[in-house]
Amino acid sequence: MDGSTTIETIERVSAAASAGPPLGMLAELTHRCPLQCPYCSNPIHLLKAAEELDTTTWLSAFSQAAELGVLQVHLSGGEPTLRQDLEEFVSALASRGVYTNLITAGVTLTAERIKRLADCGLDHIQLSLQAIDPEISDKIGNYKQSLERKLTVARWIREAGLPLTLNAPTHRHNIRQTRAVIELALNLEADRLEIAHVQYYGWAARNRAALLPDYETVLDEAAIVGEAKERLKGVLNIDYVTPDYYAQFPKPCMGGWAKDVITIKPEGKVLPCHAAESLPLAFDNVRDKPLAAIWYGGEAFNRFRGLEWMKEPCRSCPRKDIDFGGCRCQAFALTGDAEAADPACSLSPHHHLMAEVAKSATASAPPPFVYRRIGQA
Ligand code: SF4
Ligand code: FES
Repeated sequence: MDGSTTIETIERVSAAASAGPPLGMLAELTHRCPLQCPYCSNPIHLLKAAEELDTTTWLSAFSQAAELGVLQVHLSGGEPTLRQDLEEFVSALASRGVYTNLITAGVTLTAERIKRLADCGLDHIQLSLQAIDPEISDKIGNYKQSLERKLTVARWIREAGLPLTLNAPTHRHNIRQTRAVIELALNLEADRLEIAHVQYYGWAARNRAALLPDYETVLDEAAIVGEAKERLKGVLNIDYVTPDYYAQFPKPCMGGWAKDVITIKPEGKVLPCHAAESLPLAFDNVRDKPLAAIWYGGEAFNRFRGLEWMKEPCRSCPRKDIDFGGCRCQAFALTGDAEAADPACSLSPHHHLMAEVAKSATASAPPPFVYRRIGQA
């Protein structure tokens, strides 16, 4: 082992030693989904039902998560309601005092099941909305009568007394509907509306040219959202996530690598972020190792934990405690170097790549969607 490797090892061990417990868990229960949205953040290689963890292993993972200090679990997918053991998971988590949030496309839910999940202790539902126009909604999810079904499900959620967040991913095909989306959220008595620009990982990265909106339209949307946020203070909580491609500084992706969030994939692989498999790292599986050992000692978790791994310009930047150098997955995807500053940062020598990608993606008519599909790697 040479000197620099020794220093690197000491730095990583000290980062692991100073790590606190994860506060949140993203549990991707399945990759199966009746919708096929082209911006899905699931990996291109989608897992089949036979590869998923069984009920007992998920229950063990949830119990370990509660021991570890996890306070909230986001039950996601794919479409998590396709797991018939979802009620068991919610009950087990609720009995440990863990807050549960179901992230769903909604089309598979019935009023009875929503009521059952509420009775099991479910705390919150986050319902996705593809578009406010029925035709565009069906086109995005490649699913008929999607909007109609979602509106019915939203009402059932409120009738069951559950808090509702409407989650509206924004892109080139629906960005001009923002005003109507806000009105809809008010009519449905949603507690929260998330208008989040698509993040370009997984299927979204493959469909980037079809989805990325132009700069002027984003500016118009930002003004609409800004005005609505002010006007609706105390009535509707609006979260707005802007696109990285027109940013000056990056977002603190995941709130910092392996800092607050732990993700488990359908087959049990444990990741520091949902897109981490795009990086050249080795990942442990909850089938083989205790969750605590993976969180504190896992190679992938300690690789970018803390600030010591950074190189310039991040290393000496006053913002490094604010954005943690941005997103590792985006840095690697665009520069080939996972330690590079996120190119969304104007201080990055690769910042020009963002503008170039955006310019070429928005210069012509959007290409057809490549729909997410199991078995289509
Ligand atoms: Fe963030 Fe690094 Fe850019 Fe500083 S140089 S703002 S730490 S990405
Ligand atoms: Fe992986 Fe940002 S999505 S670090």
